[in-house]
Amino acid sequence: MKVIAFNGSVRKDGNTAILLNLVLDELKAEGIETELYLLAGKPVHGCIACFKCFEKKNKRCAVEKDVMNECIQKMDEADGILLGSPTYFADVSAGMKALIERCGMVGRANADMYKRKAGAAVVACRRAGAISVFNSLNYFFTINEMIIPGSSYWNIGMGRQPGEVNSDAEGVQTMKNLGKNMAWLLKKTRQ
Ligand SMILES: Cc1cc2nc3c(=O)[nH]c(=O)nc-3n(C[C@H](O)[C@H](O)[C@H](O)COP(=O)(O)O)c2cc1C
Repeated sequence: MKVIAFNGSVRKDGNTAILLNLVLDELKAEGIETELYLLAGKPVHGCIACFKCFEKKNKRCAVEKDVMNECIQKMDEADGILLGSPTYFADVSAGMKALIERCGMVGRANADMYKRKAGAAVVACRRAGAISVFNSLNYFFTINEMIIPGSSYWNIGMGRQPGEVNSDAEGVQTMKNLGKNMAWLLKKTRQ
């Protein structure tokens, strides 16, 4: 079994990466293969509404000039998907938004190809707006007929500079519990 985690932050070793790795460490401890995929440094574009994915139905986006088809393939092959984003003006980062639009549309064009995979959101935030990000990420999972494991709080870690989320004890514990719950869910539903 495999979980792919996408980090939508422009900081590759920032707070979102730390939070995602806390979840991934729990999954690894349960014997689940993991991969952390960074959007940082990879220019990505939003959906151009060409709807060619609905014509071709080949599990690919017609826009081939960025990494989105690589992301779609990784989602297709995984049993679980983590979407991690920093809070930018009370919403997801632009990179994460592009991923949601492009991977989401191709998924819907191809008989809901992420159906019944496990999916969970991870959010880094300095002060406010994280719950909007959490909701935006969860919309991706629910419209794609995915199953969302919960945790002991909503999956948010507080911090500004890289590393500060490590001081958010409840945020850290929330990520660890999320990882345990996601592993439990995967074993119940994907084995
Ligand atoms: C463009 C931009 C917008 C931001 N907007 C918010 C915001 O609306 N609310 C907030 O609490 N923090 C905001 N922040 C702070 C980040 O969410 C915070 O520093 C977070 O830990 C960054 O995660 P990262 O280290 O993974 O990039 C913003 C940061 C940037 C660069």
